[in-house]
Amino acid sequence: MSPARRPLPPSSSLPAICSLNNQSESCILNALGGLHAIYIRLPTSLAFQISSAHKDLPAAIDSGYASDNDEGSGKDEEGFELRDDPYERAFAERWLTGFLGRAEELMCFESEDSRQRAIDKASSILASFFSQDEEEDEDTEITRDYRFTLNLDSYETEEHRESKNSEIITVQLTDGLAGRNDTDHTDVGLQSWGAAFIFTELMCAVPARLNFTKQSFGSAPRIIELGAGTGLVGIALGKILPRLGVLTPNIIATDFHPTVLANLQANINKNFSVSTREKSVSIQAAPLDWETADLSSPLDEQADVLVATDVIYDPEHAVWLRDCAARMLKPDGVFWLMLTVRTTGKFEGIGGTVRTSFDGRDGVRDSQGRVLAILDEERFARPNGIGRGDESEYRLFKIGWA
Ligand SMILES: C[S@@+](CC[C@H](N)C(=O)[O-])C[C@H]1O[C@@H](n2cnc3c(N)ncnc32)[C@H](O)[C@@H]1O
Repeated sequence: MSPARRPLPPSSSLPAICSLNNQSESCILNALGGLHAIYIRLPTSLAFQISSAHKDLPAAIDSGYASDNDEGSGKDEEGFELRDDPYERAFAERWLTGFLGRAEELMCFESEDSRQRAIDKASSILASFFSQDEEEDEDTEITRDYRFTLNLDSYETEEHRESKNSEIITVQLTDGLAGRNDTDHTDVGLQSWGAAFIFTELMCAVPARLNFTKQSFGSAPRIIELGAGTGLVGIALGKILPRLGVLTPNIIATDFHPTVLANLQANINKNFSVSTREKSVSIQAAPLDWETADLSSPLDEQADVLVATDVIYDPEHAVWLRDCAARMLKPDGVFWLMLTVRTTGKFEGIGGTVRTSFDGRDGVRDSQGRVLAILDEERFARPNGIGRGDESEYRLFKIGWA
């Protein structure tokens, strides 16, 4: 008997609710079967039955931090499962609610019996979300250590990645599901996203490529992260910079969501409480909404560097970020923006707004009449085991005054 196949993430596999009337009965049953396989816990002995009941499921793709090495279970080596991914779960919950709202009028069912079976299945999956919430209320945080190899040589290429002059830095993060309100779909920053890992890897492998050197920074650069989420990038910077000789950086990790901010500050506290090595680093969380940016203290001084990863997922985000960044960036500062390209689902095409917003024509002007524009762009493929199934690649934009 072959092992159970890993189901696809709901966000990249479920048919759009508005298209349900054009779907076949088997497509809807497959969608429900996939959700059932992800969310309904079964005794191990029953898990094999899923594989035969859902043999039509397409081959697996990575989701969350799933690894290629564990094809059958949907778990990566650290035990993170698709079913634990809050974004996918919120997506599934909305889809099931939408399906149940329309099930009585759908024309695709061959009989009333099969309609009723589909309704029962959807209801039982939805009900399981709420009973799991009760069971898991006490234990909804996931805290993990992420290790990166910091290259201490100042090469600008990755050829020297295997440098002997390197050090491991560890970032401990809580992907803060605690206190999560499942009806709140704006708290996406309670988990760490693929782009943050790609950017942190790059900072560690070749810091000079981003100009993250003592020569360009001096000893006390001011760095502000926008839409920081769990804070991986800002916290990693706080560990990287002192080791590169930048001893007293001032780092501010910002976000607009209160729960995300509380989790961000807790992550900062966790990473900088004991180490003497990083005592000289000033790092804090601060509220900032790009749409209505309040630049009072501690955001009242302009930054040498702005960083942001995976912050473009609404058509308005790029323009808000452009105008917010223009008020926050020093005349010779750089804004590093790592875009996540999504080619399926509702975020498809939104990445294109970065180029149109930072095209060098529009936006807040500085005293010399310059606007923020893209100075350079680099593409990064999604490595196995990083990012969600709907993330097709990443683009790093170097943005500055032009
Ligand atoms: C997809 S998450 C990415 C989080 C983090 N940068 C990462 O890569 O893991 C997007 C982040 O942007 C934040 N965000 C969304 N809209 C925002 C706004 N208008 N102002 C400030 N932050 C916002 C969210 O709260 C969330 O933390």
